[in-house]
Amino acid sequence: MMSNEKDAERCESNVSGEVYRNPTEVKMSQIVLPCHANHRGELSVGQLLKWMDSTACLSAERHAGCSCITASVDDIHFEHTIGVGKVVNIIAKVNRAFTSSMEVGILVTCEDLYTGRQWKVCHAFATFVARRTEAGKVQLKQVNPHTQSEQMEYSLAAERRRMRLIHAEIITDLLSSSTSQLGECQQYEGAVPAEKTRVESVELVLPPHANHQVSTFGGQIMAWMENVATISACRLCNAHPTLRTIDMFHFRGPSHIGDRLVLKAIVNNAFKHSMEVGVCAEAYQGGEPLRHINSAFMTFEVLDSDRKPQTLPRICPEPQDGIRRYKEAIARKKIRLDRKYIISCKQNEVPVSVPWDPSNQMYLSYNNVSALKLMDARNSWVLTSEKNKVRLYTREENQRLLFKVEMHVCVPAEQTFHLLSDLTKRKQWDQHYEECEVIMQADEDDTIYRVTTPSVSKRDKGAEFILLASRRKPCDARDPYLIALRSVTLPTHPPTEEYTRGEVLCAGFTILEECSSVSKITYYNQATPGILPYISTDIAGLSSSFYSAFAACSLFLEANKHSQTA
Ligand code: COA
Ligand code: ADP
Repeated sequence: MMSNEKDAERCESNVSGEVYRNPTEVKMSQIVLPCHANHRGELSVGQLLKWMDSTACLSAERHAGCSCITASVDDIHFEHTIGVGKVVNIIAKVNRAFTSSMEVGILVTCEDLYTGRQWKVCHAFATFVARRTEAGKVQLKQVNPHTQSEQMEYSLAAERRRMRLIHAEIITDLLSSSTSQLGECQQYEGAVPAEKTRVESVELVLPPHANHQVSTFGGQIMAWMENVATISACRLCNAHPTLRTIDMFHFRGPSHIGDRLVLKAIVNNAFKHSMEVGVCAEAYQGGEPLRHINSAFMTFEVLDSDRKPQTLPRICPEPQDGIRRYKEAIARKKIRLDRKYIISCKQNEVPVSVPWDPSNQMYLSYNNVSALKLMDARNSWVLTSEKNKVRLYTREENQRLLFKVEMHVCVPAEQTFHLLSDLTKRKQWDQHYEECEVIMQADEDDTIYRVTTPSVSKRDKGAEFILLASRRKPCDARDPYLIALRSVTLPTHPPTEEYTRGEVLCAGFTILEECSSVSKITYYNQATPGILPYISTDIAGLSSSFYSAFAACSLFLEANKHSQTA
């Protein structure tokens, strides 16, 4: 968030005389002692995961008013290690509650007590589920976002949940398609046999590892998994490994006091500067069969004295499962890179046109929708022009000009959504759309279109856009319908001589049902060089062509309000 927005939030709090504090916020501070650290004097990631899980669980329980369990923790990237003597500060708060599950945001910072300096270590999102009662599944109360940043997290939480729930299925599909394209495993001289890195360890779940409901803490299981993964990584490099990232943890089933937890780890693949260790946690009691509790993939590096990653020995996989995991680790590395490149970049750092491919589809779609949600959650828009209740607003941000057009139509939101989300219909009301064709139906919610627009002046060529349109229905009554648009590149559609390639960084519609037959439509866009010629005279107050386009849009929607599209 920009600092002036933070200031605005603080001011908002001060006007009422009280400093606002999120009611679900829970803080934990711990001094890192030698008993929490490894032999290099760095806090063990397992201990940190336990603290993060407890803080987040207390926040979830504060909102739910009942006992909660960890369902999953999204990918975590650790930016720094933490030395003995430093203080770890953890803040957790519930971003959004769904039916029985909640997303909890967790921020970890490290503090040097002698200099007062603080720095971010990692940021994570965990999902907690309220424990079922005899009456069945718990229906949680909603979270009421108060500040702009809470509103943003509330809105983004729905998109992250969507990604989380399809994550496993998409990753499985991607792995099977990408590994079939990989040839034989490369043979490296001096490669270490994977068998040398295999670890198997058992833990008995005792009362200190569980809550008062006798369920094992998720953080404790993650800590045991991190422990065996670290041993496995050490066996490859015979040096001290540093954990960089953990892919999403998903707790498939519960574990209780008295369970024996069997933890197995092996290095799946070693690249030049990093290795992937896979860990599997299974539980049993007495003679019962093993229950699969969790599987995780962790990326380690080995840092030299200047904290630069060292070159690692390569791995020689075992036959069958080993070879499959070796190839899957290559595919996961690509997926992780895509994720880092597309999601973790700040919005204004993401290059305008990202090449589309099946392995980054999930993240591009997320990026498309979340960028529009972030625009939608922004306040301080300036009303620039208004005609017959169609309003044009602008907002300057990081030297970019954002604009939005707002209007109401007497058409139900769902029908409006169906009519506007089919871009091939847009030329019926928008004179800037000359041609529009579907290039690819990536999935049910994501379509790639080629759109051409006419030239603005005699000297110019027309423009051509390759647009990814991502559609979302509301998660609950407070969410709008959403159609997000952004440019992508496709090898099958390179730029041509005939047209100038136009770029859309973030645009789209949000549609909110105000009552059963009236919808509020908001159109957002950024005035990039490709868009500016169409809007600059409106923004300068010299024309109101935005009004003609949106009046035509309103007529189009009214005329088709009973059409069969929906
Ligand atoms: N990530 C995030 N949330 C998930 C999820 C995942 N991978 N899988 C399911 N959920 C959510 C669902 O969306 C649902 O949320 P909602 O009620 O708000 O819609 C909620 O979990 C319950 O889902 P439901 O379909 O009713 O149950 P399920 O059979 O999928 O079980 C768990 C989900 C999490 C309850 C179950 O897998 C479990 O008990 N896991 C072990 C949890 C545990 O004990 N953790 C501590 C360490 S062992
Ligand atoms: P997959 O085999 O598809 O990767 P699993 O859930 O079976 O998924 O295992 C997750 C990871 O745990 C594996 O990638 C592997 O690294 C590790 N693992 C699984 N089984 C063993 C085992 N018997 N010994 C050592 N490590 C194992």
